[in-house]
Amino acid sequence: MADPIAESLLEYRKHFPALEECVHFVSHSLGCVPAQAADDLAEFAELWRTKSITAWSEWLPEVDRAAARIAKIISAPEGTVIMNQNVSTLTSVLASCFDYTPERNKIVFEALQFPSVSYIWHAEERRGAKCVLVPSPDKITIDTDAICAAIDEHTLVVPISHVVFSSAYIQDAKKICERAKSVGAHVVLDCYQSIGTVPLDVVELGVSFAIGGSIKYLCGGPGAAWLYVRKDLIEQFAPRVTGWFGNEAPFAFTMPDQSYAETVWRYMGGTPAVASLYQARAGHTIIGEIGVRKIREKSLVMTQTCIDWIDELGFKLNSPRSAESRGGSVVFDFVGSADVCRELNRRKFYCDHRPAAGIRIAPHFYTKPEEIDLFFSELKKVRGGAGR
Ligand SMILES: Cc1ncc(COP(=O)(O)O)c(C=O)c1O
Repeated sequence: MADPIAESLLEYRKHFPALEECVHFVSHSLGCVPAQAADDLAEFAELWRTKSITAWSEWLPEVDRAAARIAKIISAPEGTVIMNQNVSTLTSVLASCFDYTPERNKIVFEALQFPSVSYIWHAEERRGAKCVLVPSPDKITIDTDAICAAIDEHTLVVPISHVVFSSAYIQDAKKICERAKSVGAHVVLDCYQSIGTVPLDVVELGVSFAIGGSIKYLCGGPGAAWLYVRKDLIEQFAPRVTGWFGNEAPFAFTMPDQSYAETVWRYMGGTPAVASLYQARAGHTIIGEIGVRKIREKSLVMTQTCIDWIDELGFKLNSPRSAESRGGSVVFDFVGSADVCRELNRRKFYCDHRPAAGIRIAPHFYTKPEEIDLFFSELKKVRGGAGR
């Protein structure tokens, strides 16, 4: 590759020996494991073995250290991020912050929302909320003006995806935040499909809350999800979904009512799953060190090459063509795509498949340009020259 930045990123392949045994095109779903993750997990286990209960004095600060690593990647101020196990749990915590009145009961989100997020906000209808789903006629994009038009003075929350999981469409989060702010509503931005591949500045975007995890482009594996809360909002909410680590003094064991921490820890529930934070450390550190701008630059060139292949093979592209509205993955479909995906995975050409969307692939900073050709050549072989 002629581009010196793209080439310099290949230096990081040495941290991912697993890449030498496969073609890893699935970082939108599961990023490749850094070799260091095993050592970091061993450090966790060694603390457990050697220090028993006193290991907590080293384990607990890992929550703030992980949060600081995330804050750097999303440009969040210090003390505005907390960790938890997954986005579903964090969405439940956030949903439990809101109370609905007849005047303020609307929740507006897009029809292409990730299922678990949609399930949780929909269930708020049992507590008096009214969900408004903005449709996506092409199943790829969402009309920003339609979302903005659906947000009105009755809207309380706007939980939307930054990048749509099934098409990689990037929503105009800034415009949606401006509209929400003008009527006093809160945007909860699900950044799971953008963190680590699309540059993020949560303050600049103007979100009230942002959520995401570490499994995908952050190469951190499961269990290290994160929540950003705008600094001035931290003390405004008191989540009903809570636990003793959300208390101002967890080890005072006060009862019966919760007295919330003044810090972002008030959004914490029970005992943090610290092993997964050790596991995610290497991925977070590598992405933070490279910087997402460089990753994005390389990603855009590679996803365009994928689109060229998809066009050449006559497949249906289910992602945006324009660079500015395309995230880190490319989605395409053809008859029999689910079976082809299964066979590609068996051959260690890793990708995934989503119903009504097709095969999803994502090159990442560690991808060699020739791997794109290898992937599509293998796909052609698997498919055996069948028609569209
Ligand atoms: C946009 C988006 N949100 C949420 C999730 C997952 O949420 P959870 O951490 O609850 O599994 C995914 C993918 O797994 C996703 O792509």
